Amino acid sequence: MRIVLLGAPGAGKGTQCKNLVSQYGLLHLSSGDILRKERSESTELGKKAQSYMDSGQLVPDQLIIEMMAKAIEKAPDEGFILDGFPRTVNQAVELDKTLAQKSQEIDAVINLEIDDSVITRRMTGRRSCPKCGAVYHVENLKPKIENKCDKDGTDLVQRPDDSPEVVLNRLETYHRQTEPLVDYYKESGTVFDINGDRDPDEVKKEIFENLESLVNN
Ligand code: AP5
Repeated sequence: MRIVLLGAPGAGKGTQCKNLVSQYGLLHLSSGDILRKERSESTELGKKAQSYMDSGQLVPDQLIIEMMAKAIEKAPDEGFILDGFPRTVNQAVELDKTLAQKSQEIDAVINLEIDDSVITRRMTGRRSCPKCGAVYHVENLKPKIENKCDKDGTDLVQRPDDSPEVVLNRLETYHRQTEPLVDYYKESGTVFDINGDRDPDEVKKEIFENLESLVNN
């Protein structure tokens, strides 16, 4: 199965991807995580991406499309879930071309819907594990021991682009450049609109129900 997960910053894409990976054995390909790894390793790509990410703008399409095409090459037969990519119509068109070369296509798009007013609270409370990538929230999804990862005990960190000013820029960028993708996918395939402003387990349940209906049809 090949899935695209759409949604504003903080909609819960990363949180729900973890569930999908364990349920369906899909490869989780997060463009944001790949970029953060490139930055931590001070690669050329990481250096080029830095200023865009820190200000809440999109990294140029050309860099992202090449980076994600390489990542998709390594996906297993079970498929993948794309988190944060595509983010512009141009990226989606190039993704379709890459998949068409292998006679593949996107099977489903999950669109996590959430109001902007909820986002800022979520983002400023987010903490993540720099070692394994697990995501927590200081109120909604607390680790068992304060500020320690449940899986490996590493100290949790706050992302630099989760400051209120940068979050506002990311939201503006999302509405202007990424939201049009919902219509792009609605014209050509299956889009599941899911209310992301609920308990994470309720969101997970609805995503699974929708995907099961797809698998069984
Ligand atoms: P990226 O890392 O992709 O960030 P994002 O899309 O802004 O998404 P986030 O990771 O911030 O949020 P999320 O939806 O995964 O939410 P999460 O599950 O963590 O991109 C970062 C930057 O990289 C971009 O700004 C851009 O510069 C660049 N970039 C990346 N991809 C690019 C591309 N394709 N093209 C160009 N540039 C690109 O949840 C958030 C918080 O809420 C957590 O604390 C979580 O515990 C909590 N939470 C989750 N679900 C719920 C719930 N249901 N109820 C209550 N709390 C919840």
